[in-house]
Amino acid sequence: MTFKMARGKAHQTLLALCLCYAVVETISAPMDVATRADGSVLVGDMLYSAAQWQSLLARNLHSKEVLWPKTNGVVKIPYKIANPKINVTLLKLAISAWESKTCLEFPELPAADTTTAEYLNILIEKSCWSGVGYAQGRVTNISIAGDECDLKGIIHEFGHAMGLQHEQSRSDRDDNIIVITANIQPGDEHNYKKFDTVNYGIPYDYYSVLQYDDRAASKTAARVMLARDARFQKVMGEGKEISFMNMKLVNTMYGCIDDWLTNCKLSPEPCKNGGFTKKDCSCACPLGTTGANCENFVMSYNDALIQKLTPHSANITKPGEVTSPGYPKFIRLG
Ligand SMILES: *[C@@H]1O[C@H](CO)[C@@H](O)[C@H](O)[C@H]1NC(C)=O
Ligand SMILES: *[C@@H]1O[C@H](CO)[C@@H](O)[C@H](O)[C@H]1NC(C)=O
Ligand SMILES: *[C@@H]1O[C@H](CO)[C@@H](O)[C@H](O)[C@H]1NC(C)=O
Ligand SMILES: [Zn+2]
Repeated sequence: MTFKMARGKAHQTLLALCLCYAVVETISAPMDVATRADGSVLVGDMLYSAAQWQSLLARNLHSKEVLWPKTNGVVKIPYKIANPKINVTLLKLAISAWESKTCLEFPELPAADTTTAEYLNILIEKSCWSGVGYAQGRVTNISIAGDECDLKGIIHEFGHAMGLQHEQSRSDRDDNIIVITANIQPGDEHNYKKFDTVNYGIPYDYYSVLQYDDRAASKTAARVMLARDARFQKVMGEGKEISFMNMKLVNTMYGCIDDWLTNCKLSPEPCKNGGFTKKDCSCACPLGTTGANCENFVMSYNDALIQKLTPHSANITKPGEVTSPGYPKFIRLG
């Protein structure tokens, strides 16, 4: 992954992109969803009829079929360090970033362990890539090689290992971005494939750690993606950490929120405006809301995100001249 968009560098990073997908497979995995007596399934606040659910399964939805199984109420994703040259400090920073924001646990297995074939195998191969999700009876390989595989890079690859697709591959991407296929490097079109992802009602996030920047896999360094909300054009690919929506998606996919609500004896969800109950029973509130239960809606997540990332941005309301000091460098303040 990791597109630092020095223009000429685009091509070199393609391998990572390709590999991200080379290992995508459609393997059935146990899914921890509660099937109701009539066969219907409740996912978050969306109820699927038995027929709808079966049709979803039949269409091989990546984001459901690649979930790691939950055993005795806990999703454990063990990992093994396959190469002693791995920077364990950095690896553990990425792991604790996900552990602190989700209910997933990543126990380390000794290199000699033979008790399970299903674990993350942390390798140093060429560049930064990962298999997508759980594969029954097999390892999920993750390569974290080179400088491009920095903390963000490893967090991104672990996102894939948990079953996440790229943001620009979500089923609803066309509502949020315009993909200019003519600008894609020939042979790399698969990097902009749209997947039939299940998004659990969680909105597209330009600031997702799974979002590529606008020139990724470009033929000529021209933009491949246009943000439909133009304020986000330069935000795409800039997300350095697990975004609110990344965290909410993983916690929804893996039933963490349902488990926390149960443990906290809370029902229905007390957190408003897109917030959700965390492990400590308090609310995780999206940007743009305040109050212990996120009950005060100040502005939308996207408006709040823009205000945080580019506090000096303003809408152009009358004709005039616009100057952009430092362009095209992304200016991050605060
Ligand atoms: C390992 O990663 C840490 C955290 O980013 C960094 O401080 C350290 O210099 C890295 N070690 C090596 C040997 O690269
Ligand atoms: C994982 O990587 C190892 C070492 O390169 C390789 O032997 C194995 O076939 C890979 N497994 C999968 C499932 O890709
Ligand atoms: C700019 O306009 C958009 C669309 O009308 C609005 O949502 C946004 O809040 C405005 N931003 C600023 C900084 O005024
Ligand atoms: Zn990726």
